[in-house]
Amino acid sequence: MQTHKQTLEQTHLITKEVIEGLKAQPKYILSKYFYDDKGSELFTQIMHIPEYYLTDSELNIFKKYSRQIVNSLMVDSRPVNLIELGAGDGFKTRLLIEAMMKEKVDFSYVPIDISEEAITQLQTKFEKELPGLEIEGKVKDYEAGLGDLQYDAASQNVVLFLGSTIGNFERKDAVDFLRMINQKLKKDDVLVIGFDLVKDPEIILKAYSDKQGITSSFNLNLLERFNRELGADFDVSNFRHYPVYDPLSKAAKSFLLSEKDQDVFFEAIGETIHFDKWECIFTEISRKFDISTVNQLSKEAGFSVYKNFADDAVYFIDSLWKK
Ligand code: AVJ
Repeated sequence: MQTHKQTLEQTHLITKEVIEGLKAQPKYILSKYFYDDKGSELFTQIMHIPEYYLTDSELNIFKKYSRQIVNSLMVDSRPVNLIELGAGDGFKTRLLIEAMMKEKVDFSYVPIDISEEAITQLQTKFEKELPGLEIEGKVKDYEAGLGDLQYDAASQNVVLFLGSTIGNFERKDAVDFLRMINQKLKKDDVLVIGFDLVKDPEIILKAYSDKQGITSSFNLNLLERFNRELGADFDVSNFRHYPVYDPLSKAAKSFLLSEKDQDVFFEAIGETIHFDKWECIFTEISRKFDISTVNQLSKEAGFSVYKNFADDAVYFIDSLWKK
């Protein structure tokens, strides 16, 4: 397993990006900062709360169609590199992996995640529970992880990008990101990508404002992380998790609202940042999709859609794209 400890350089980069966002007008925090070890653990909890239908929907797809998905993935009998971007606890992917093992596909599983703890736990669990599985986890961001793809024609790459994580990108950034993936792949390689579909706005909003308050803790963990890593002195109880859904742009957005006029000191830069009463920090966009947008995105990124699998309620699709 390849791991890394956060280097001084990376800490400087985090500081620079975070401070830039908090000095911007309006203030923002990049959503990749959710996923430190604590945040990844909270997101795993989110996946199991009843309001967060996305996981159940995608699980429903894999329960029903994993055999068909596996059979449609493979273009010939070459061995497969199954690469997963943002693997988390591998809970859904496990169904695909089991189907591949059952179908006797020659493959190795390469989960990539920026949380070291997530990868360590996943690797230990799968090595124990899925004997015979070839697994090589990587603690890297998506682009670095994809950088090591094997370009030999002797194997086929299948990239998994599940959970509708693509919804976290603004449209233009989504196309750039998907193009980057496309460029790392060779002809006949496949991308399996999850999209949360447009649906009743009430259902969507509830997924981001669960009763137990786990999504709220997930959002506020950003500030706690900066207290831990950047020596900030956020009083988290002065901020409120505030999610909205806008049916026009088809996007759920999450904010942290400052309930007071307040100053926060950052030891890492020796500076104070001011928050006005009711000023917000934009922390996440979760875009929702219709099929025509999915088709357009694939085209713009250099892929063609060749199969879509939906859950029974048609809340979610996993789309199979070929380069
Ligand atoms: C992992 C990006 C798909 O946007 O639905 C869940 C993250 N944020 N609850 C999403 C998330 C708040 C999630 N993704």
